[in-house]
Amino acid sequence: MRKLAILGFGTVGSGTVESFYHHKEKIAKRIGFTPDIKYILDIRDFPESPYKDKVIHDFSVIENDPEIAVAAEVMGGLNPALDFTKRLLSKGISVVTSNKELVARHGAELLALAKANNCSYLFEASTGGAIPIIRTLTDSLSSNYIYKIQGILNGTTNFILTKMREEGLPFNEALKLAQDLGYAEKDPTADISGADSARKISILASIAFGKHIKPEWVKTVGIDRVTSEDMAYAESLGAKIKLVAVASKESDSDKIFITVAPYIVCNNHQLAHVDDVFNAVMVDASGAGRLMFYGQGAGKLPTASAVLADITAALTETNSSDNVWEECEEDIIIKTDGEEGLPILE
Ligand code: NDP
Ligand code: HSE
Repeated sequence: MRKLAILGFGTVGSGTVESFYHHKEKIAKRIGFTPDIKYILDIRDFPESPYKDKVIHDFSVIENDPEIAVAAEVMGGLNPALDFTKRLLSKGISVVTSNKELVARHGAELLALAKANNCSYLFEASTGGAIPIIRTLTDSLSSNYIYKIQGILNGTTNFILTKMREEGLPFNEALKLAQDLGYAEKDPTADISGADSARKISILASIAFGKHIKPEWVKTVGIDRVTSEDMAYAESLGAKIKLVAVASKESDSDKIFITVAPYIVCNNHQLAHVDDVFNAVMVDASGAGRLMFYGQGAGKLPTASAVLADITAALTETNSSDNVWEECEEDIIIKTDGEEGLPILE
């Protein structure tokens, strides 16, 4: 039972397969045996690919093969990704994923299912692209109280805002470029509207605060509301406009503040210098103090790096799902009134 299956052979899936074969010997050294990819599940055939013989179309082949130890779900969307993930975890097959939509919506249930079946559900690639923020919050900072997380969590919108500001590119041209580079979601409305950032901050908040914060509870404003006048105004203040996600909770309060919005970020703030497809996450923790994590937030190889880290972990750990999110009600969220104009990031 040492074989892998990759579900979805798109941007992230193809990057994962290529990187796996590039680093196979290094992975083998780390885990003590040589793993291999047995199947690649996709709707299409890939006759030009060197991996064409591994491509299958029937999911049941994977779930019924006792050799499969880990599957990487990199198809995206809720269906059939949820059904496939549940069926795999129920059989004790670990699942790693880049699918933030699924993690944000069903994370608590899937983590519990993995634990019950003594396997892992890991999602380093779901938030921050190549940045190892999930394992950092789950493991490295586990003995800290997390007060606040603020970050630029969407590569596409940060890329678009940077291209518009620095190269004067019209919005649609900048978006097209982000799509061509493989950064954008299949439906880029999720990027532009802030929904993708809302999914990611809800994942980070769920880990930090131990409660499953649903993405639909996050007060979300996208960059579609940003005008060229707003950008000129920010510039006149010595600032930039950035789509920022924020989650915070005081240690003596049960309530969580969580939002995604285009913020005015003054140039003396570290997040002001996070441009292009880069993401950054700033964490305020009780013992460690302020920490900042920076890296490419989207794209084939940066995302594959995070998927492969999880594959390696899942192959070595019997059950790495110590990450438990309690279910909770929406009244845990602090309700705020709509603000006039763009907020300034503190
Ligand atoms: P792509 O659309 O490039 O790849 C998805 C692949 O899965 C496609 O080949 C698609 O086929 C295939 N697929 C879809 N449904 C099924 C199905 N039912 N059975 C088999 N195959 C299926 O997406 P990405 O690789 O960009 O993204 C994948 C996931 O990773 C998404 O959740 C995304 O949000 C996330 N992600 C993406 C990043 C990026 O930079 N691109 C970064 C971090 C996370 P077809 O094309 O025919 O529909
Ligand atoms: N569309 C996402 C982004 C992909 O641009 O950040 C990475 O999650």
